[in-house]
Order: sequence, then structure tokens, then C-alpha cells
Amino acid sequence: MRDIVAPESARFRRFTEVFADVVGAAGYQQIIPPMMEDLGVFTRLGDATDIVTKEMYDFVDKGGRHVALRPEQTASVCRAYVEHRPLTPWKTWYSGPNFRYEKPQRGRYRQFDQVGIEVLGADDPYLDVEVIALAWEFYRRLGLRQVKLLVNSLGEPDDRARYVDALRSHFEAAGDALSEQSRETLNKNPLRVLDSKRREDAAIIAGAPTIDQFWSADAAAHFATVRAGLDDLEIPFDVDMRLVRGLDYYRRTTFEFQGGTLDSAQNALGGGGRYDGLVEDLGGPPTAGIGFALGIDRTLLACGDEGVFGAPDDSVDVFVVDTTGGREALLVTNELRAAGFTADRAFENRSMKAQMKAADRSGAGIALIVGSEELAGGTIAVRPLRQGGDQRVVPRDGYIALVQSLITGNS
Ligand code: HAM
Repeated sequence: MRDIVAPESARFRRFTEVFADVVGAAGYQQIIPPMMEDLGVFTRLGDATDIVTKEMYDFVDKGGRHVALRPEQTASVCRAYVEHRPLTPWKTWYSGPNFRYEKPQRGRYRQFDQVGIEVLGADDPYLDVEVIALAWEFYRRLGLRQVKLLVNSLGEPDDRARYVDALRSHFEAAGDALSEQSRETLNKNPLRVLDSKRREDAAIIAGAPTIDQFWSADAAAHFATVRAGLDDLEIPFDVDMRLVRGLDYYRRTTFEFQGGTLDSAQNALGGGGRYDGLVEDLGGPPTAGIGFALGIDRTLLACGDEGVFGAPDDSVDVFVVDTTGGREALLVTNELRAAGFTADRAFENRSMKAQMKAADRSGAGIALIVGSEELAGGTIAVRPLRQGGDQRVVPRDGYIALVQSLITGNS
């Protein structure tokens, strides 16, 4: 787990603001679920997923409750839906940290942030298109270009079950030719064998049956409408029948966004899909659901690689230098902030030289200087720091107008 300090912290903040803008414009409203829930909320995600069986931070609290830090937020949103029974479709967005006990490396952390959306109560394929299109629009707003969209359909639960059986038979028939690790995965979740990157598995995986052979007519039609909708919006995508994601709850549409500059082991910038059975698993009525989550940490790495979405300029407009003890700086910064400017100052009554250095370092465009002469004469010196121009001494009650004109460039 790591600290995120400035200027990176400012990028994080702006990332979430841009996301809120994009999804807010489509009618999504924010939900802030708790970071810790009853363990049972997350065990519903499936006992065949590493996120639940190996990576969860869970413990017994002082009241004897078995709780867990959330490894993701989809389950929490579904739990909240069961609790609040909102009108449908319920369109929500969220942001915040998640916790997984994974091996940390570049782009993979034990505490990581996501932004995401979830929609409950509609299984219209055009909703799938809207959801995918919002993520696509968000990447565009960040300025990211090297993003690849992969889509797949895992079919209806029955289709998926028959596919899993077929995969099991196929991989079992391969016997010892399959890597030991994949044989272990096969016992728990044959779908995940498709994810194996081991060389000895490659040919066996290439020969495995594909999900399209198992789609029901409904599932095939649903997916065809999703693809046609993406075409209508001119969103480029590849159908990847081997796309299985790390969570077990997916049905029908699944998708992933991959970053072109990241290592293949963690190049997923985000992903999502339909999870039509999850609300029911959590004790609610049968309810369709779809959403995605995008990893903030990893997406910002990709932005850095592409030289886009840098840190916003957090420097203040004005820096106040006061060599008369500091009270003038207290008053002047207060006046500036009240007038709508951002202003900082030096403390501890340091020398003029040290304070001017601090003013330079602050990145401010203007220094306001109060020395003993200015204090005695009821004036203040205004010095442009970046754009050139001479220092001017103005009456103490006239400096705001000068700052204003220097900042708007019509002095
Ligand atoms: P996920 O694929 O587990 O899906 O995570 C989504 C994204 O979170 C990943 O693509 C990645 O960018 C980021 N991420 C995951 N683990 C880490 C980590 N250890 N360090 C850094 N980034 C990470 C979900 O979480 C689902 N809840 C998505 C979803 C929403 N499906 C439907 N609705």
C-alpha cells in the first residue's frame, strides 16, 4: 500500500472529477458504499475466484462479526440495491479504494482505486452499448489513444454451464500435456484455464471449443445488437471469445479495455459486463445488472506513458512576502482569498531573500511585498514573477485591482 502525494494526488482527484462529469451527463448518480462489509456479501462473488478465496482482507471484528475490506464494489452496489429497493433502472457511479492481497508490482497494488458504474434493473442490449460507450468516452476525455476494447458474450447461465462442461472434457482429454497449474485451475473453474499464459497450454487452448457454439438464440441476438450498437457509435472493438474475466458473476456481455503501453500481465485498464444473477444471490428479486470498473492507478500509468492527462497546475495566483512580522501577510492573504484569488505566504518571518525564494518555488505569478517602508507608507509592492514587467508600488487599498488586471492580462 502506498501514499499518493502531490502532484499525483491532484491527478487522482481530477480523474474522478472528469469521470463524474462524463457519467453524470448520462444520468448516473453517485453511491458511496462502505469500504468494509459482511464477509458474506463478497463470498457470493463465487468460491472459484481468487479474489474471494485468496486475496481478501477479512477478519473478525470486536463484536465477533466476520467482515472484509471490499475487493471490488459491484457486490456492495447489489447489496445496497436489495436494501434500498430504488426505482429501476438504478444508474449509479462510484469511486474509491479496494483491497486485494495480490503480489504488488507496477500497476498492481494491494490497495488500489477504481471508478465505475453499475445499472440495475434493465437487460436491454442498448444499455450494454451505453455502458461501454461511456467508458470509451471517458478514455477519450483523458486523451488516451492506445486503448483496445475486447468484447465477448458468456451466454445465458445454461449456455455458460454447457460451455464449461465442454471445456472440462476438452482439457481433461489433454491429460498431463496441460500444465500442472492449469490442471489445478481446471478442478475449480475450467473457464479460467483459457487465461493461462503458459507455453505448454497454448496449443490446447487454441483447440478448445468456443462459446459461440453454445449461445442460445436469445443470447446470440442480444450480443448481435450490442455489436451493431457499438458499430453505430463507431467504437472500434474486437470480439474475443477467449475473454474470461477474473470474477465468476458474468453472464452474457463481458468486456475489457487493454492499454497498449502496459505489460501484458496487468494491461487491463478496466472491465465489466452483465451479472444478471448477483442481486438474487444476495437475497433480492431476479434483477438484471451491468457495469464496469476502471483502475485509476493503472490508467494513470498508461496516461503517463502516452504523455497525456498530466498533473493540473496547483500553484497559487499570488504569494505574499512580509518582512514586518507576518501580520500584514495574514490580512493580505485573507483579503485576496475573499476576493477569489488563491494565495499563499511565508511563515516564521524569514529574510526577504528566503521569502522571495519561496515565492518563486510556489509557482505564483505575482508576489506582493510588504517591507517596513511599505508598512509605514500604507503601500504594497506588486511584482510580476513570471511574465516580466516592473514592480509597482500601489496604495494598500489599490492592490486588488492591479492583481486582477495582471492576472487577466490587461494591465
Ligand atoms: P476487475 O477486472 O477485477 O473488475 O477490476 C477492474 C479494474 O480494476 C482492472 O481492470 C484494473 O484496472 C483494476 N485493478 C484490479 N485489481 C487491481 C490491483 N490489484 N491493482 C491495481 N489495479 C487493479 C471488477 O472489479 C468488477 N467489479 C468490474 C465490474 C463492475 N463488473 C461489473 N461491474
